[in-house]
Amino acid sequence: MLQGKKILLGVSGSIAAYKAATLVRLLVKEGADVKVIMTQAACDFITPLTLATLSKNEVSVTISDNQSWNNHVILGRWADVMLIAPASANTIAKMANGFCDNLLLAVYLSATCPVLFAPAMDEDMWHHTATRHNIEKLLSYGHQQLPVEKGELASGLFGEGRMAEPADIVTYLDTHFGDKKPLAGKKALVTAGPTQEPLDPVRYISNHSSGKMGIAIAEALAAAGAEVTLVLGPTWLSTTAQGVKTLKVVTAAEMLSNSEAHFYTSDVVVMAAAVADYRPKSVADKKIKKGEGDGLTLELEKTQDVLRTLGTNRPAGQVLVGFSLETNNEKEYALKKLREKNLDMIVMNSLNDQGAGFNYDTNKVTLFDRNGIATDLPLKSKQEVAKDIVIAITGIMQNSNTRIVV
Ligand code: CTP
Repeated sequence: MLQGKKILLGVSGSIAAYKAATLVRLLVKEGADVKVIMTQAACDFITPLTLATLSKNEVSVTISDNQSWNNHVILGRWADVMLIAPASANTIAKMANGFCDNLLLAVYLSATCPVLFAPAMDEDMWHHTATRHNIEKLLSYGHQQLPVEKGELASGLFGEGRMAEPADIVTYLDTHFGDKKPLAGKKALVTAGPTQEPLDPVRYISNHSSGKMGIAIAEALAAAGAEVTLVLGPTWLSTTAQGVKTLKVVTAAEMLSNSEAHFYTSDVVVMAAAVADYRPKSVADKKIKKGEGDGLTLELEKTQDVLRTLGTNRPAGQVLVGFSLETNNEKEYALKKLREKNLDMIVMNSLNDQGAGFNYDTNKVTLFDRNGIATDLPLKSKQEVAKDIVIAITGIMQNSNTRIVV
């Protein structure tokens, strides 16, 4: 619930401004105190009177009129959160560059609270390098971007750039404030980290996974109210988050048996571990000594795929999420795993993206829903990515149509 939360809604000039009416109505219904600021261009799409009536507060458009001026500093300090929805390409560009030629921008520059923005524009504008740079700047200021949706655009074209639906924006805010625990009473299972497959008492086969992303997901699920079991491969990282019980494992076989013990009673399962696909066929009980020859041939055998094995018998109603890390043909492989492993969602990582992958504190992922519809997330901290994944999971649990909007 957003009971008593002070939300400053900035509405800029985009056809999506009409959605601001529903957004205000939903926010007020949730108990929020909403004040609206509009740009002059937004008034061409929806009247201040509509938003004033729905918010039960006066709507501000200009910095001053003949008689008085709007105190942007007070407005900026009043809010618990400033939400700009829709954020047009023009307003995003001005925010990114510190322009201050209307009240919305003056309040934005004065705001001391967290800032969220929901872009809305045509696909070509959305993909333009200038817009990309502006969005990156806003994210580097610590602001949060609500992902755009794919769909029919005002131009009549079909593509990316639609503003997130008002109901999804409200879910995002609910999670932001952390008051509502959408996963309260739910059980979750997360696998994370690498596995190690021993060769002999001193050597093993493994990979570079640190478990950072999976641990962040376990923590985000717990923050959303779930009771989480984290099956964690060997890593120097750990978590002390309330609501997360960690089971430490070493091999793929241990990861499977520990996961299996919790899989069938879990409402949500996220398999983020980088499980070894092969292990030495035999494990020497003594250290393997250097022989006379130039090389050593190891015979490997397949490990059992934890996700595939358990996914074939998943309980009804369970949300099952997998990860896909690739260096090439990322989308094709991710969609193949989504289908073959019977998943509701797959989180695609590419090692080719700057700042993404093993050991980084940041990640850049694309979420694919059950129907293969993609949601691209910008480069964010792994904690923020984890939050977005949890929002998407919550959305899947709540909407039978499994649309992902974070
Ligand atoms: N996975 C698993 N057990 C395995 C291998 C993978 O549970 N033995 C899970 C991972 O945790 C991840 C998903 O399956 O959620 C995809 O893992 P990935 O390594 O990207 O792909 P693989 O299916 O192993 O295929 P490949 O290595 O050929 O890309």
